[in-house]
Amino acid sequence: MAATTHIIIIAILALSISVSAKEFIVGDDAGWTVNFDYQDWANGKEFVVGDKLVFKYPVGNHNVFKVNGTAFKACMKPPPSEAMTTGNDVITLATPGKKWYICGVGMHCAYGEQKLAITVQPQQNLAPAPSFPFPIGAISSPVPAPMPAVWYPARKIAAIRN
Ligand code: CU
Repeated sequence: MAATTHIIIIAILALSISVSAKEFIVGDDAGWTVNFDYQDWANGKEFVVGDKLVFKYPVGNHNVFKVNGTAFKACMKPPPSEAMTTGNDVITLATPGKKWYICGVGMHCAYGEQKLAITVQPQQNLAPAPSFPFPIGAISSPVPAPMPAVWYPARKIAAIRN
């Protein structure tokens, strides 16, 4: 019984680790577009290292640049070679801290507010060391120890006596 309980706990731990990475569709149904309040969209969301941002837009209409805070404020476009342009750009948030993204098409950033700033939190409790009250060996052998070897001779003696 104890072994089953602990296997379930291990399974739940493994499950919670695997589902902890989230995927955010930037702008949700609106996608990556102009005249959308991305700061409002980001408010209340918790971005954690390992999560993914997905920028969805019709190819050619927009693009995505990862920029620094200064370029974000001024809507300064990096070289075109740094643009993501697939219409389904997936960015894995690899490090904690502030991240800034802008659209580099036309004046979408400056006049269309097509810009997103988020803060990525460090990953917590990744694969915590399990602390069970008894060693792993005890879990894997829950059946009682075999009867002592003297049990059979004792019974035989009893049978002889009877
Ligand atoms: Cu755009």
